[in-house]
Amino acid sequence: MKRISRISTVLLAISGLPALAGAQAYGGPASQWWAPDQGGELAAQAEYKNATGRVRVINAGGAVQTEKHAFFSAIGTNGRACVTCHQPADGMGLSVDSIQRQWETHGAADPLFAAIDGANCPNLPQEDAASHSLLLNKGLFRIFLPWPPREADGSAKPVEFDIEVVQDPTGCNLDSDYGINSKTPMISVYRRPRPVANIKFLTELPHGVPPHESFFYNDKSLLPKDPETGEFVSLQLMSDGRGISLRNQARDAAASHLQVSKPLTEAQLRQIVAFEEQIYAAQSYDDIGGELTGEGAPPGIGPAALRDGAPGRLGNNPINRIFGRFAMWSDPATNGGATPEQREFRASVARGAELFYARRFIISDVGAYNDKGLGNPFKRSCGSGCHNTLLMGMDLAPGFMDLGLNNYPWANTQNDLPLFKVTCHADAVPQSYLGRVIYTHDPGRSLITGKCRDVGATMTQQSRALAARAPYFVNGSAGDLREMIDFYDRRFNIGYTEQEKRDLVNFLRAL
Ligand code: HEC
Repeated sequence: MKRISRISTVLLAISGLPALAGAQAYGGPASQWWAPDQGGELAAQAEYKNATGRVRVINAGGAVQTEKHAFFSAIGTNGRACVTCHQPADGMGLSVDSIQRQWETHGAADPLFAAIDGANCPNLPQEDAASHSLLLNKGLFRIFLPWPPREADGSAKPVEFDIEVVQDPTGCNLDSDYGINSKTPMISVYRRPRPVANIKFLTELPHGVPPHESFFYNDKSLLPKDPETGEFVSLQLMSDGRGISLRNQARDAAASHLQVSKPLTEAQLRQIVAFEEQIYAAQSYDDIGGELTGEGAPPGIGPAALRDGAPGRLGNNPINRIFGRFAMWSDPATNGGATPEQREFRASVARGAELFYARRFIISDVGAYNDKGLGNPFKRSCGSGCHNTLLMGMDLAPGFMDLGLNNYPWANTQNDLPLFKVTCHADAVPQSYLGRVIYTHDPGRSLITGKCRDVGATMTQQSRALAARAPYFVNGSAGDLREMIDFYDRRFNIGYTEQEKRDLVNFLRAL
């Protein structure tokens, strides 16, 4: 994992790109950072440099005036705005590179590092970098959830397990003010922001997924309904599904991350949701491969494909392939006009796309997945198994699953994260492959449902603009795309060759 280091960024001279008329980048000459209350307009199209190329952001509703806009203004008490953690230059997520730059420039004074969740625990000396090590090294924010979980009316939900803090490296879970034994018992876990872009693909209910679009695919239970509208919701928001709608998520985010002193007004809620529903982000240029969009490029990459694409569709079939066709790039001898180096890269991307879509491997012991009638083990590819949403690559049929990111024995041991021992009650349905005693860095969905079988389960997330927002996985345990591939290779014993790993990385960084 990368330590704090200076990463030089060059602001892109967008004016030199005729394809991007009207595009603009912000944050002053040395930075692409969007500060709360900085004002100005977020252009209809903007492009920002990142470690391997450029990400493009499209506002389908036209340029956004950010002055006094609820997403861009410090509407709470800690100086943050939503944009603080959902940066246009980072594909509306937040990269560790950006976090480290903010620390180097402003230190603890930057509201990004606010004690409430931008520190390992609010009780630590806030001036010290060590107090923010999880954010600085892995891009993780503290998510603090009541234990036991609450019903809508605020009463305690029945729970199927006891939870014990085995390791508390941040000191927060055993703290007398913030911990599990405090007056208002809380569990602190540490998670990456998820991007606020391409949202229609997250909120649309799946089309054509058996048995019916309003059921969870993996356990046939009914999807929840949004109490405000009475409609079924997709449950694709947040790693644990607690953000039941964009409105509900925004209220929670304002209360926790922004520490607002009073609830968001109806006008603020509407403005936030309307903004979220019209913004698209994807990588558009690769430093080796050149332009990723436009004539001759695969039609599924770049943000315009997302703006124009239909949400809620399966991409695991030859007619609708997850990220579309890459054939035009598959032959390095023929993909016209480009330099030999660009052609070689593009051919590698095409091979990576094929591996992602078609290369099957044996998937076993994934809690809340292999046990849902699919079989254990079960042979599928990345795309046909779990990353099947057309153009987006998360799981269309909403299913929380335990891939092994946080639960032992599969998790990468992470001594900087809390470790919990979960002991399920004798009458609880056990977690299918881990039983009733589970060691985990983050109990995930079970902190919301209180169910033993949900321990460590999380919801897949979108796979776009990845190059703009390392590190990866809910707990930031993969520092780069290669480490992400290596996790899967190890977890499922796939045996990718070195070339296959490179092809997959090149493919993912082009998304
Ligand atoms: C301090 C950083 C921070 C701030 C400020 C912040 N968020 Fe987030 N956001 C996160 C994190 C972390 C997650 C993922 C949490 C999880 O998975 O449990 C997230 C997730 C989301 C998601 C879900 C996306 C998905 O794919 O599931 C939405 C939508 C969102 N935030 C909107 C907002 C809005 C609206 C605001 C302002 C009211 C806001 N955020 C402010 C850190 C932040």
